[in-house]
Amino acid sequence: MKTAVVTGASSGIGEATARLLAAEGFRVICAARRVERIEELAREIDGVAIRCDVTSQQDVEALAAAVDGSLDVLVNNAGGAVGLEPVAEADLDAWETMLQTNLIGTARVTKALLPALLAAEGVIVFVTSVAADAGYEGGGGYCAAKAGERSMVEAMRLELFDKPVRITEISPGMVHTEEFSLTRFGGDQARADAVYQGVAEPLTASDVGEAIVWMATRPSHVNIDRMTIRPRAQAAQHKVHRG
Ligand SMILES: NC(=O)c1ccc[n+]([C@@H]2O[C@H](COP(=O)([O-])OP(=O)(O)OC[C@H]3O[C@@H](n4cnc5c(N)ncnc54)[C@H](OP(=O)(O)O)[C@@H]3O)[C@@H](O)[C@H]2O)c1
Repeated sequence: MKTAVVTGASSGIGEATARLLAAEGFRVICAARRVERIEELAREIDGVAIRCDVTSQQDVEALAAAVDGSLDVLVNNAGGAVGLEPVAEADLDAWETMLQTNLIGTARVTKALLPALLAAEGVIVFVTSVAADAGYEGGGGYCAAKAGERSMVEAMRLELFDKPVRITEISPGMVHTEEFSLTRFGGDQARADAVYQGVAEPLTASDVGEAIVWMATRPSHVNIDRMTIRPRAQAAQHKVHRG
């Protein structure tokens, strides 16, 4: 049976991807900080739950120990945005969190699991964002974190060109998950709801999950370098159709 690790599997895109990978026959190791959520998910999908804060070296080592030498798919999904202030008013602790999670945490997990991925001729899917394409007002910290993650992906693909591992990236636009905007706005539901207001059909977590599963299940000589996925209503970051 093939094995997959999904980080940030306790909600949104990560949870949907874990469910879809399990439906494809993978044994899924679900990693996140909220252990009750991943334990319930693991029970439902016959997977494994590992409490893992990607900013903790010790937790990531425990995740690598659970993988046990061979891994077919790693979905580096844990991350998110905190705040939407202009740089002049930025909360730098929030920037620290975004960089530690999206960039350095992802690097930490990738380093720890790479030997197991090489052993299985595996594939890594990095969940970045269209925020990596260009800066937008209030996005300085988040865009920097996701652009940093993208740069790491590009470097790794070159570094590992002669090794049996695929380095792939999915770059989503607007996805209406329950928690992404809530986290960004510190739990302010009204501000979170306003992000999606009037947009007939933002992407769902499953829309992105299905694309991730497709990328991860191509034959091992096929590398999907980067997929940009947006709702039809979002032609560009600043061009969103609202009814
Ligand atoms: N929603 C969007 O519009 C959108 C668009 C483009 C890209 N993305 C990216 O897609 C990914 C998933 O986002 P989402 O919309 O599904 O948001 P979400 O529901 O808020 O999911 C974020 C996940 O990351 C986990 N996480 C956060 N910090 C972590 C840490 N230090 N260690 C381990 N896990 C951590 C959370 O789990 P715990 O809190 O349980 O640890 C949660 O499961 C993120 O990388 C996000 O930046 C989202």
